[in-house]
Amino acid sequence: MARAGKTLRSVAQKVLAARSGANEGDDLLGRLVTAHDPTTGNAMPAGLIVDNVVTFLMAGHETTSQALTWSLCLLALFPEWQERVRQEVLGVAGDGGIGRDEIAKLTLLDAVFQEAMRLYSPAPVLMRRTIVPVALDGIELDKGATIIIPIYVVHRHKLLWQDPLKFDPPRFAPEAKAGRHRCAYMPFGAGPRTCIGATFAMLEGKTILATLLSHARFELPDGELPVPLARITLCPKNGLKVTPL
Ligand code: HEM
Repeated sequence: MARAGKTLRSVAQKVLAARSGANEGDDLLGRLVTAHDPTTGNAMPAGLIVDNVVTFLMAGHETTSQALTWSLCLLALFPEWQERVRQEVLGVAGDGGIGRDEIAKLTLLDAVFQEAMRLYSPAPVLMRRTIVPVALDGIELDKGATIIIPIYVVHRHKLLWQDPLKFDPPRFAPEAKAGRHRCAYMPFGAGPRTCIGATFAMLEGKTILATLLSHARFELPDGELPVPLARITLCPKNGLKVTPL
């Protein structure tokens, strides 16, 4: 892990070195390079930029790809939903491209993507360490205690969800969402450290899913969902095997 971390950082360092002077660019890296501390006016130190680049890469790639993996698996298992979403995409985008405006109109696609992240939350567990003693719902925790927030379990809790194990995208219709507890559904976390890339991830994930569905049909060759394995993200134990038709 340490070796992989070192390799990643050295790649990020090289990319950063290539971005200097007039070559800054206006993408995320360019913005980090040109950012200034509003109080001191100082630029961001190179080490901190590299930390940010690696964090964005790790936090942004694996999570979105797992959300897509599980969405495709579920759509392959429930072909009637797959067909409904495909028809929605074709109805809105036709033969044209799928951009932000089209995505905003794809409400079934949105519901399916959200329901996939409910059943298979890409980040299945969050952790916090207490920095002061704290009482949580009457339970006293010492300073330095580890708190585990099992999103996977919360998303499948029978007190929070009706028929929780059922793949049921209409749960994410606007009227069904109203009144739901903020923390009943938190694929992107909650509170001050909530995912900074959430809006981007939804746009990116749904664009890829819509594009895939408009080009191919997907089947599960074994007819069964893969076994989920919680690493940092929730991945299929033996990878994803879907057959595009
Ligand atoms: C479906 C996709 C994604 C999921 C499910 C997801 C989930 C999460 C979660 C649960 C957290 C909170 C971690 C915690 O509280 O301990 C988080 C934080 C974060 N995410 Fe995402 N994420 C996704 C996509 C992205 C993308 C695309 C980016 C960047 C382009 C990104 C960047 C980050 C960063 C930088 C943080 C740390 C924020 C902070 O600590 O202030 N994520 N993400």
